Amino acid sequence: AETHHHEFKVQEIAARRLCRNHRIVAVNGQFPGPTLEVRNGDSVVVKVTNAAPYNVTIHWHGLRQMRNPWADGPEYVTQCPIQPGGSYTYRFTITDQEGTLWWHAHSRWLRATVYGALVIRPKLGSSYPFPKPKIEFPVILGEWWDRKVISVQRQALFSGAAPNISDAITINGQPGDLLRCSSQGTTKLTVNKGDTVLLRVINAALNQQLFFSVANHKLTVVATDAIYTKQFTTNVIMLGPGQTTDVLLTADQQSGRYYMAARAYESAKNAPFDNTTATAVLEYKSATSQPILPQLPAYNDTNTVTAFSNQIKSPGKVIVPTKIDDNLFITVGLGFFNCTPGPRCQGPNNTRFGASMNNISFVLPRRASLLQAYTQKIPNIYTTDFPPVPPVKFDYTGNVPRGLWQPVKGTKLYKLKFGSSVQIVLQDTSIFSTEDHPVHLHGYHFYVVGQGFGNFNPSRDTANFNLVDPPQRNTIDVPVGGWAAIRFIADNPGVWFMHCHIDAHLAWGFGMAFIVENGVGEAETLLPPPSDLPQC
Ligand code: C2O
Repeated sequence: AETHHHEFKVQEIAARRLCRNHRIVAVNGQFPGPTLEVRNGDSVVVKVTNAAPYNVTIHWHGLRQMRNPWADGPEYVTQCPIQPGGSYTYRFTITDQEGTLWWHAHSRWLRATVYGALVIRPKLGSSYPFPKPKIEFPVILGEWWDRKVISVQRQALFSGAAPNISDAITINGQPGDLLRCSSQGTTKLTVNKGDTVLLRVINAALNQQLFFSVANHKLTVVATDAIYTKQFTTNVIMLGPGQTTDVLLTADQQSGRYYMAARAYESAKNAPFDNTTATAVLEYKSATSQPILPQLPAYNDTNTVTAFSNQIKSPGKVIVPTKIDDNLFITVGLGFFNCTPGPRCQGPNNTRFGASMNNISFVLPRRASLLQAYTQKIPNIYTTDFPPVPPVKFDYTGNVPRGLWQPVKGTKLYKLKFGSSVQIVLQDTSIFSTEDHPVHLHGYHFYVVGQGFGNFNPSRDTANFNLVDPPQRNTIDVPVGGWAAIRFIADNPGVWFMHCHIDAHLAWGFGMAFIVENGVGEAETLLPPPSDLPQC
């Protein structure tokens, strides 16, 4: 195995998009940032220097970071932020993961422009479970705002109202031919007839679920979230923010130019959303024709999303935990805080938006990270009374009277014994409106054993769980007005964040964290903190 050394300089750079000049925060002057290419089993050392005027951290999304939450990155969870002028070196090893992950800032909303692909190839001497593709190409989907992202975030948090929607969806940082002043920068991929192409599709958008499709070409799904899947062929894929999907495509047309396109999937009724279409061009060598657009599903086509996600399975039989030690039922969704009318109270009916898990609206600490507080026993940073079941019982997907359930702010964690077998049912609620939520667990993969619409019904739904070949993921899109059930073994000690990967929801408090205690022996014990760990 190899060790890869990188330096990331985070700084503001000039970028022109949608006919306007901007200054954005980016890494090494590139947007999207550098692609890291490694093999399973390799080690990575990235020295991050912060030359930007904001605090920053970098998260290696989906990496297990075994015994090593110190390199995970979410600010105030596993580390204090790297302050302007400061630096921190992330050191980690890739263990049993192959496919596509990504890295992004995990500090306020900076990840809008601070992100890049993390490509993990098979171990030296082993190969893909499919014929080696001729071309590999990362396709990173994102969102672009005409305003500074930090001010978009501030506006949402300050006013208590929903954030402004983005002004364009992007592919590898570019809106593409259909948006004003954008065709010069459109991303292009040139192929020869007969080439096989591995597209590593990443949804790096802040707030938007996205459909992705390529005109006249079928996509064969081979992996999600850096875990191989049973292969299946589809015209369109859908990714929630945080998710990755690897697809194979064969350049089997005579010649021509074809758009790869991304557009919103928006499950919340009456919610405003960015309905622009981002395009990149798949171009057969020397073709000059006008590119053809693929047919993308309607923005609210939940049936297509359900049919797609039901096809994602493990390649064969897997060993799913069956005896459950910690059984959690967590309601997720938006709620309201009452407020006195004024500029800070712009939510519906004299409220400001909040979000919660089991009615706890998560508050990040400031004096120390949760991981430092845990390992150094710093008092009064967090409590360990996160409720394993919701404190109030009602019909989660029916009509919930407004004001019946208002979240309570807190920094509540849930403690797991090392080796515990955990089941979590995530239930969408309809307090504001039903909506689909991409819930991400740091430091783990989990089996997605079930998904459905309506209220989770333990006796009926548990009996139908897939305990044979469920997929493994790090981010599960909880269906709109429905539920998803996940299982995993708590085999990675540390403090691990779980949150909605829609940044607006995270900023409103849609998160919680697990403490996974040490087991016995060195292999089950947290590594010591690095000496350059930033202090708060
Ligand atoms: Cu990709 Cu906590 O995030």
